[in-house]
Amino acid sequence: MVYFTWSYPRESRGKGQSLNNHACVTGWGTYLPERILTNSEMEQLVDTSDAWIVEHTGISQRRVVADHETTSTMAVEAGRKALDEAGLAAEDLDLIIIATVSPDNYYPSCACQVQDSLGAKKAAAFDIGAGCSGFLYALSTASQFLATGAYRNALVVGSEAFTRTLNWEDRNTCVLFGDGAGALVLQSCQEPYGVRSFILGSDGSGGKLLYLRNLCARPGDWPADGKPRMYMDGPKVFKFAVGAMTDTARRAIEQAGLTQSDIDLFIPHQANLRIINSTIRFLRLPEDKVVVNIGRFGNTVSASIPIALCEAIQEGRVKDGDHLVLVSFGTGFTWAGLVLRWGVPAEIGKRAFSQAGAARGEA
Ligand code: ACO
Repeated sequence: MVYFTWSYPRESRGKGQSLNNHACVTGWGTYLPERILTNSEMEQLVDTSDAWIVEHTGISQRRVVADHETTSTMAVEAGRKALDEAGLAAEDLDLIIIATVSPDNYYPSCACQVQDSLGAKKAAAFDIGAGCSGFLYALSTASQFLATGAYRNALVVGSEAFTRTLNWEDRNTCVLFGDGAGALVLQSCQEPYGVRSFILGSDGSGGKLLYLRNLCARPGDWPADGKPRMYMDGPKVFKFAVGAMTDTARRAIEQAGLTQSDIDLFIPHQANLRIINSTIRFLRLPEDKVVVNIGRFGNTVSASIPIALCEAIQEGRVKDGDHLVLVSFGTGFTWAGLVLRWGVPAEIGKRAFSQAGAARGEA
């Protein structure tokens, strides 16, 4: 008889070593499902029109997962690309955090599935659920582990198969969302790159304006047909979103000791083009400093900000030394904003190379 044997892999330990103080972004990657669902296809599903959706949201199309794709498989693909870009092997990771509200399972966490698929043998792994603010919550959290010197390398992913949670008969919500994943690799460093400030907040009293119950709710709280039913009071969420994004962006900039003129690129959560436009009007930001891709992807929830950031990088809109403002709001209510200083110090360039070399068995 063959018994299954298992022993604890050697995990990374919080070493309590001297503070490295900073965590820079050294790798990035996205995964977007191939299937494109256009507004004209939406017209076949619910009583809506391309003109209404574009005028009220700015969305023309969104990506939708195929049967073989899930939140964890997309996170793995995005994570692999980010590791390649960083020149790191999965074994180098000390920490994996996945931001999601559409995990494959209640348990185990999506992060554990990603850890296994990547072969990140020594990484701690957990999920963060903070709605559309999830990615910035995760990025701030990972940065703290690296800045204290406890860990050196982290993978942070926002991934959502959110369309699987939708009620495709509800035109108020089903036209808004899309699927996808975006990932960043962070590495500890001594020079002041990476997250320069962060503001995280919550107000649970807003929970009744935007929610999706799960199976553990009181039975009476479930719809009689047992199907998921997102509830959203769109106009109230809209009003909250503009105020939260504007205020959070201002405070993150101030906390970083910067002024608005120091900001090179503004990456807002992509929920609705009108929310973005109102926010940048209040902030008096010129359009050429703002990343907008909602027209092609809709609201991808936790994945929205990393996907937008990766696109901006690919388009050459992000340069060494740039200060980026990333800001979001989400169910909860939650809000999050941070200033990210872009660039990789020379010390990391060398370290990443030698670690990748070691993983390939090079001297
Ligand atoms: N097609 C056609 N008509 C529609 C549609 C549609 N897809 N959806 C709503 N309508 C109708 C409504 O029924 C309403 O009709 P009525 O006046 O006859 O009742 C009319 O359009 C206007 O509805 P409003 O709700 O006032 O439309 P609004 O301009 O506010 O746009 C929207 C609605 C797009 C939902 C907007 O309020 C919004 O974007 N809110 C924020 C949503 C958001 O960001 N949510 C975050 C969720 S992410 C997370 O954390 C999970």
